Amino acid sequence: MNEQTRKMMVQEMAERGENPPSRYIWKDIHHQPADAPPIPIVYLGHPDEAEQIKAALQSWGMFQVMDCGMTASFLDEVRNVAKEFFQIPMEEKQKYTNLKNGKFHYEGYGNDEVVTDDQVLDWTDRLYLTVQPEDMRKLELWPENPSSFRDVLNEFATKSREMLDYVLKVMAKSLELNEDSFISQFGDRSILDVRFNNYPCCPRPELVNGIKPHSDSSALTIILPDKDVEGLQVMKDGVWVKVTTSPHALILNMGDLMEIMSNGIFKSPVHRVVTNMNKDRISVAFFYTPDGEAEIGPVDGLVSDMRPRLYKNVKPKVYNEIYFPRFLQGKPTIDFFKV
Ligand code: SIN
Ligand code: FE2
Repeated sequence: MNEQTRKMMVQEMAERGENPPSRYIWKDIHHQPADAPPIPIVYLGHPDEAEQIKAALQSWGMFQVMDCGMTASFLDEVRNVAKEFFQIPMEEKQKYTNLKNGKFHYEGYGNDEVVTDDQVLDWTDRLYLTVQPEDMRKLELWPENPSSFRDVLNEFATKSREMLDYVLKVMAKSLELNEDSFISQFGDRSILDVRFNNYPCCPRPELVNGIKPHSDSSALTIILPDKDVEGLQVMKDGVWVKVTTSPHALILNMGDLMEIMSNGIFKSPVHRVVTNMNKDRISVAFFYTPDGEAEIGPVDGLVSDMRPRLYKNVKPKVYNEIYFPRFLQGKPTIDFFKV
């Protein structure tokens, strides 16, 4: 692995107001999204929730969740601790760095690993932590400033996990499967990772991506978007579409492993984040992934003569080993697992 050195954080570059360095610049991006309706809305607990989820996932792979079991004021509290963390002095944030003795680690505060010279970097800084299983927590990387950070994260994780397991059951029922069909593939040690994203403003937003186009490797991702600053876009029928949501909603996004488990019925959409000239954007994402050693694959009930198996079985750990280096190059992974 390459020696990793601390480079200037995006937040520091943004504070200086300088144009983005060449390493961040894309030659051919078109940020102007198409006009489109808001992404579908699903009301959890509604008598039609399964129908709503099925329709949303077959057409978009992404939906807004209303009645997610968390109050609007709690979601604002999560947004606030995220914002306050990114506002503490840089020196203090660096206590949680993801670089140790020149080596990159997924967990901690920082940026993506730099693997090749031609890799285009994203205009974002982030804090990445594994939250479940609890015995995998590296508490030394969990901020103590603001003082409520750990408790709020813990509560957000517990509630999010409840919602995810509920949604997995509804998804299975929407396909007329036994409600445990997806959950049973997650194993005893399913993984919940969190990423706090800060996308500082950029004097030349048309040249950079906050996050480059990708689909997630997870099974399911929850996104808590910024309430005031938009930026997330999703590819729908070949065009980029702005993701606009209600301030009380969470976004639920399918990842590649769910596309595999559903034998291609639920799509893992390509999405990206764009930045703007004068407002920082903050978001929080949870990635829910089966136990790294659990072998996942298309659910039995979704494979038939009429609908042949589209994907091979894979261990999430193996999927991620292939996914992450490709993500850094802006390349998709799921096609490797086509039958
Ligand atoms: C992502 O996780 O791909 C981006 C989420 C966001 O910042 O809206
Ligand atoms: Fe993503």
